[in-house]
Amino acid sequence: MTEHLIHVDHPLVQHKLSIMRDKATSTAEFRQLLREISQLLAYEVTRNLPMTTRRIETPMEPMDAPVLDGKKLALVSILRAGNGLLDGILELIPSARVGFVGLYRDEETLKPVEYYFKVPDALADRLVITVDPMLATGNSSVAAIDRLKQAGAMNIRFLCLLASPEGIARMKEAHPDVPIVTAAVDSHLNDAGYIVPGLGDAGDRMFGTK
Ligand code: URA
Repeated sequence: MTEHLIHVDHPLVQHKLSIMRDKATSTAEFRQLLREISQLLAYEVTRNLPMTTRRIETPMEPMDAPVLDGKKLALVSILRAGNGLLDGILELIPSARVGFVGLYRDEETLKPVEYYFKVPDALADRLVITVDPMLATGNSSVAAIDRLKQAGAMNIRFLCLLASPEGIARMKEAHPDVPIVTAAVDSHLNDAGYIVPGLGDAGDRMFGTK
């Protein structure tokens, strides 16, 4: 992937996202829509995966059939909201390895604090797709990717649902080698670090905690 920002403006993605943004949408519906969008976004983030061929026999004749090449990719969820994207993508790529980075946002400083880190082995040999629905200040995403690079990851992509211009700029500055795939780039962040117009707190909306 050569572009730094890939905006997935597919009509299905945009329609589903609009329903998710609506504050009248229920927790169950929100979670289901996130699962569906995650698969459409996964389609984009994996578009140019390396391929090879495998010799198979169809009922008609032998053929060299295209299959994915290389080591199983790693999906890394930034807890807890990342899990809402993770579940759907795992349905599409069931053999993917899975890691978790636990970061919470200090509501005063808006800085990330790490409380959990567990990732697959041989990260250096895998495509690592990091998932978090909201790229807001970029602080958590940048910190998570810092840690993944420390753990050896060299080929990283970042998948989110909504991004702020501020978050994109922060990621580009800190990790220019990491392409961002998103369904929307919103207007701005508010003083509390929330994306506007956004959809509110993604974790609360998907888990019904508020
Ligand atoms: N995290 C969220 O869940 N929502 C935002 O708008 C920003 C960060």
